[in-house]
Amino acid sequence: MDKQITAVLVGAGNRADVYARTSFAHPEKLKIVGIVDPDPVRRKLMGDRYNVPETNRFACVEDFVQRDRFADCVINGTMDHLHIATSVPVLDKGYHLLLEKPFAVNEAEVETLTEAARRNDRKVVIGHVLRYTSFYKAIKQHLLNGDLGRIISIEMCEHVNYFHMATSYVRGKWRSEKLCFAPMLLAKSCHDVDIMMWLMNDTTPALLSSFGGDFQYGPDRKPPQAGTRCMVDCPLEQECSYAARNAYLSCNRWPAYVWRCLDGAPDQSMERKEHSLKTDNPYGRCVWDFERDGNVDHQTVMVQFRSGATGTFSMIGGSARSERNIHIIGTKGELKGTFEDSSYTLRLRTPEKSSGYTDRFIDLKISGDKTGEKGGHGDGDRNLVLDFIDYLNGHAPTVSCTTLEDSRISHLVVFKAMEAMYTGSVVTLDLQ
Ligand SMILES: NC(=O)c1ccc[n+]([C@@H]2O[C@H](COP(=O)([O-])OP(=O)(O)OC[C@H]3O[C@@H](n4cnc5c(N)ncnc54)[C@H](O)[C@@H]3O)[C@@H](O)[C@H]2O)c1
Repeated sequence: MDKQITAVLVGAGNRADVYARTSFAHPEKLKIVGIVDPDPVRRKLMGDRYNVPETNRFACVEDFVQRDRFADCVINGTMDHLHIATSVPVLDKGYHLLLEKPFAVNEAEVETLTEAARRNDRKVVIGHVLRYTSFYKAIKQHLLNGDLGRIISIEMCEHVNYFHMATSYVRGKWRSEKLCFAPMLLAKSCHDVDIMMWLMNDTTPALLSSFGGDFQYGPDRKPPQAGTRCMVDCPLEQECSYAARNAYLSCNRWPAYVWRCLDGAPDQSMERKEHSLKTDNPYGRCVWDFERDGNVDHQTVMVQFRSGATGTFSMIGGSARSERNIHIIGTKGELKGTFEDSSYTLRLRTPEKSSGYTDRFIDLKISGDKTGEKGGHGDGDRNLVLDFIDYLNGHAPTVSCTTLEDSRISHLVVFKAMEAMYTGSVVTLDLQ
């Protein structure tokens, strides 16, 4: 009989909340027993939401680790550049760890965390939620079965739609590496690079090149008539696809980020929100006024694997629809699919047919969004937490299980791809 896993949230923000909700759906499996967050509003909000005793609410990790260990694990949902500083002490204290991606923002941090996990013999799982989705798990199974033969090429892309792009990577906290320490390829698409490395893990990446740039944003591209705040002084509000009123009031896009400034405020009315967008809310500012300090809005990475296979991944911000596509070609057939449709086509060589192939369309019928019953990222968010709980209960790691060692390779690929893009050269990846 599996035991209930107890967890402390370190960084009780949006992502920690997403994972912690499993304790509502499966109270027999997960209980949140502690909160660490320097923000008193967030500490109270999340502490009350998960019924955490006052004595188990801490303002910093240093205070938390003063106490004897009182839970099985930590769920670390701090921002990217705080992951190492807030994870090493909890590993040293003996907690297992579910850590958000990217787990490190440079190569030195990758090694620091890997070493801390090793010396404490703790289980560390990284929040690469896509691996846990039915869609990518089904694709992985075809590769493990050998259905496609030897892989010649893997093509992947992630299209980030214009309003997600504007909210997270232009107006939001991931707009600039100076702010969040992670370029967009790391912050957004380390998931996709991780998927490629996971699907191709019977070989290793050897050479990388990469190109990219900022095509759409930044003050240089601001239309001359545009104002400074959409709802205050902009004559283009009606025609602009980034208009704050439409995005954040009418369509209520990304409320967890846009309305963070109203956390704990008694007045959450539309009038209060409108006032916020007109005055001090960054999401009410003109989308072109943000300095992005060299962050790209599109980037392509090319990989040469040691097996001789090649891979390409393109991250393209500004599309009409968010979409992840994958096309794998092997010596026996192909697989082609779109994550958001939760369906793919398996196309096998069939020499006896006049067309030369047979198509099998597979619809996994998974619907999932940020609030859906199945959880965010398709069914990935929910599956990751349940998988982590099983892992802590001593079950064998599943095929999805994103251990630190696996994730290390995909992080190194991202860092080398950034180097390749900045230097305009082909970079060798020497994996030890
Ligand atoms: N897996 C995914 O698909 C996915 C999606 C979005 C974000 N993320 C990642 O999740 C992480 C958190 O993102 P978020 O949007 O939830 O951030 P957030 O800002 O909502 O939450 C971060 C929390 O950490 C707290 N904090 C700050 N300093 C701290 C410290 N020293 N110790 C403890 N807590 C501290 C903040 O007060 C805040 O409450 C990031 O690394 C992000 O890249 C992952």
